[in-house]
Amino acid sequence: MKILITGGAGFIGSAIAKKLMDRGDDVVIIDNFNEYYDPQLKHDRINIFLDGYDFELYEGDIQDVDFCGSMFKKEKIDKIIHLAAMAGVRNSLKDPMLYEEVNVMGTIVLLDLSVKHKIKNFVYASSSSVYGNNKKVPFSEEDRVDTPISPYAATKRADELIAHVYSHIYGLKTTGLRYFTVYGPWGRPDMALFLFTKNILENKPINVNNHGEMSRNFTYIDDIVSGTITALDADLDYEIMNIGGDKEESLMRFIKVIEKNLGKKAKKNMRPMQPGDVPSTVADISKLRKLGWKPTTKIDDGIKNFIDWYKGYFKVNN
Ligand SMILES: NC(=O)c1ccc[n+]([C@@H]2O[C@H](COP(=O)([O-])OP(=O)(O)OC[C@H]3O[C@@H](n4cnc5c(N)ncnc54)[C@H](O)[C@@H]3O)[C@@H](O)[C@H]2O)c1
Repeated sequence: MKILITGGAGFIGSAIAKKLMDRGDDVVIIDNFNEYYDPQLKHDRINIFLDGYDFELYEGDIQDVDFCGSMFKKEKIDKIIHLAAMAGVRNSLKDPMLYEEVNVMGTIVLLDLSVKHKIKNFVYASSSSVYGNNKKVPFSEEDRVDTPISPYAATKRADELIAHVYSHIYGLKTTGLRYFTVYGPWGRPDMALFLFTKNILENKPINVNNHGEMSRNFTYIDDIVSGTITALDADLDYEIMNIGGDKEESLMRFIKVIEKNLGKKAKKNMRPMQPGDVPSTVADISKLRKLGWKPTTKIDDGIKNFIDWYKGYFKVNN
């Protein structure tokens, strides 16, 4: 199989690329190496994390129809994992138009080309943020999700709706995966685990939102990779599925595990809830479980793996 991964220099995309190549698939990556966070980390995922692997890399924008069209013509792609997006809830409040363009228009460009080139399965990243302030827990795919509370969440919901159009009208198989707070080695610098680790090591305070009254279904990167590949292999007609860890963890315990692994206490700046953020995300993962997938990594192990990676990558001695 030849699999196109959009956003393949990203945190999740690079990890999926490695796993697919390990099992013998051919991989093509598109990424524009934008500066939402340090592009050096993206280049290092390609050059260090994926060192020794053989894949095609296309540097460019998913909104560029000509660029994407010529890549599709050249590569004869079988299936797609579409991850390229502007991520980050808070940043989407600053630049909602960019989020709309990349996350919605970019997705339509790829859906359109997928129909034209008879792609066998189109798996794409949605997000737990589509649940907004959903009161019912755990969050189920059956719950209504028409009250997003950030531009980012609204674009991810829009992707699910437009994917339905393409499945319905053109018979394109699409599966949207609602990822729940992903963490692990080679992770994103704008996310809590990275920020907390960095600040604790540099003796700077960490921002604890909603005075610590937060919980998340943190999901380890390897579990996200196996869940995404399960959906890729399943070739379902039209689906939306949660992928989350199997345990709701409080933010304060999350911080405790980081402190334990760093052997150092955090200076905590307790602050109110931030706009666009939600106090709790809890996933009902029974749908994806029925396909044989289950999350296996506990945060104690996952955080340790992240901190080992962080210290190695940034050459931290203590
Ligand atoms: N990490 C999480 O906790 C999480 C949770 C829910 C959903 N998601 C979604 O999963 C996907 C991957 O997230 P990630 O954490 O790996 O983020 P990431 O930012 O590390 O990866 C996204 C990649 O897409 C690329 N990209 C962005 N805009 C592009 C464009 N216009 N053209 C080409 N490439 C472009 C970026 O350069 C980046 O390398 C995203 O769609 C994100 O919204 C992530």
